Amino acid sequence: MKIDIAVLPGDGIGAEVVAAAMAVLEKVASMSGHQLNPVYADVGWAAIDKHGTALPEATREICRKSRAILFGAVGLPDRDKTLPQAQRPERVALLELRKGLFANLRHVVLPPGLANRCPLKTELISAGIDIMIIRELTGGLYYGKPQGISGPPGTRVAVDTMAYSEAEIERILKIGFETALKRRRRLTSVDKANILATSQLWRETAIRMAKDYPDVTVEHMYVDNASMQLLRRPTEFDVIVTENTFGDILSDEASMLCGSIGLVPSACLGIPGGAVPFYEPIHGSAPDIAGQNKANPIGTILTVAMMLRYTFGLEPDAKMIEKAAFEVLNGGKTLTGDLGGTAGCTQVADAVMAAL
Ligand SMILES: NC(=O)c1ccc[n+]([C@@H]2O[C@H](COP(=O)([O-])OP(=O)(O)OC[C@H]3O[C@@H](n4cnc5c(N)ncnc54)[C@H](O)[C@@H]3O)[C@@H](O)[C@H]2O)c1
Repeated sequence: MKIDIAVLPGDGIGAEVVAAAMAVLEKVASMSGHQLNPVYADVGWAAIDKHGTALPEATREICRKSRAILFGAVGLPDRDKTLPQAQRPERVALLELRKGLFANLRHVVLPPGLANRCPLKTELISAGIDIMIIRELTGGLYYGKPQGISGPPGTRVAVDTMAYSEAEIERILKIGFETALKRRRRLTSVDKANILATSQLWRETAIRMAKDYPDVTVEHMYVDNASMQLLRRPTEFDVIVTENTFGDILSDEASMLCGSIGLVPSACLGIPGGAVPFYEPIHGSAPDIAGQNKANPIGTILTVAMMLRYTFGLEPDAKMIEKAAFEVLNGGKTLTGDLGGTAGCTQVADAVMAAL
């Protein structure tokens, strides 16, 4: 198969983790006989320095022509603060490249060998943690109108609007149900249906759609309870699907369960044939460790596995990468500093390639 991808390493550790993940991808492609065609492009400060903007037209064009985008990270806090908010790399590049991608999938896994890195007690996590969080990404409070602050100082009023159409709810729930079918067939739909109208529509829709997925066990949970249950019984969750703001908060909470932000991959997906799918590790550019070969590349390596699975339908190759990455983590010998080890980013990538 042809794997035509845009590769945007970006700033800070973005370049290091993307190089590590690309080395793994190249090896898998050659083992499986795929034709890998990566086109590298500038984004973030790397692009501002050369082209005066965080997302040059040439980069957009490369992304438009690709089947998927592999992204490292953008932003450098010291330099970001010299720019107005609207021109900062995260704002310019991420919002633009993710436009139209309504489903954000974050895969949170605690490999048994890393149980000591999880902040929860051993007895709560002995059954293992493997949760796919699916967050709606283009609706809700972040985009609802009216939005803004008005009125004279002292009596100003701020408004944010939470709005969801039935179609928006259906399309994200469909991804939730279908993802659950391919996993352990448990879906937790999170809402606040005891208070919010958007959540009442969400729950009604989820209950109706559940009839079409008799093999999926569906649980409806209020968001406040979900945030508690994630810490009380994390091993029981399989797929969680929820709206934009709830998903933002719950996915950050869940990321901490696996012990390091450097381990979590993500995908942003839209409708087939629509915006180009976007894949990135959930961490930022980590300027405190950039350029020192200290970054954990596993989140980006697992991101490549998600890309092979969701955009190219290459499930066996995705599984092969995941198996190799978890073998390295469970082995406990080649770990980066965030996991208590002394290995470098390149050594971890080499270990994953050796395990393939
Ligand atoms: N999608 C993105 O491009 C994205 C996401 C988040 C933050 N950012 C940007 O990144 C910059 C730094 O942000 P931040 O410090 O808040 O978050 P960060 O994720 O970059 O770093 C937070 C902490 O986690 C550590 N860390 C992160 N990734 C790691 C990895 N792979 N291996 C080992 N340790 C890792 C860092 O060393 C740091 O101590 C900011 O400019 C921010 O705007 C970009």
